[in-house]
Amino acid sequence: MRIDILTIFPEIFDGPFNHSIIKRAKEKGLAEIHLHNIREYTANKHRRVDDYAYGHGAGMVMTIQPIASLIDTLKSERNYDEIIFLTPDGEVLKQTMSNHLSTLNNLIFLCGHYKGIDQRLREHYITREISIGDYVLTGGELAAAVLADSIVRIIPGVISDETSALSDSFQDGLLSPPVYTRPADYNGWKVPDILLSGNEKAIGNWLIEKSIERTKSRRPDLLDEH
Ligand code: ADE
Repeated sequence: MRIDILTIFPEIFDGPFNHSIIKRAKEKGLAEIHLHNIREYTANKHRRVDDYAYGHGAGMVMTIQPIASLIDTLKSERNYDEIIFLTPDGEVLKQTMSNHLSTLNNLIFLCGHYKGIDQRLREHYITREISIGDYVLTGGELAAAVLADSIVRIIPGVISDETSALSDSFQDGLLSPPVYTRPADYNGWKVPDILLSGNEKAIGNWLIEKSIERTKSRRPDLLDEH
């Protein structure tokens, strides 16, 4: 999988992509993440990438030319499965979307700033618009990092114990059950007996029961989706 991220702040990604699971995925050759600075593609002599919004008083809008030049360059080098714009008015990200995107080969993530990008870019280049939740961030970068993380971690081979990605919350439409580790008794706080019983079938049933209980009390909307 290759992800090309288009941004005016490439340095924001130094943290999230150089640690832990994404770092490992890159080292194993399972994911390539390429950062592109939109400003390097502007034809404007002052290196500007934004301009005033027509018809509105407030706010700047990212202009077509630098983003179009950058996307055209990338598209001349390979085919892209999706060109995704991160925006609060996009489709809200769900695990099922990350699962699907993780099966694709080449993705572009475009990070917006200011009041957004010129609508004509959305109409002519963007194939999918994704929001990471109903709140507004300063720019699309953190949303792009979240999306990349959620996709890359489920590429087969990225997490060593693959079953652990499959048992995540949301993978089966349910929240995960509680988990415990040693010691079995911490100053009187005991791990439920069933988990120490060795009875795999009973443990399996208990875990499902706890998942359903937790989902019912915290996210009943997930049960309605079935
Ligand atoms: N850009 C600003 N806010 C965002 C959000 N919630 N999701 C995706 N991109 C954004």
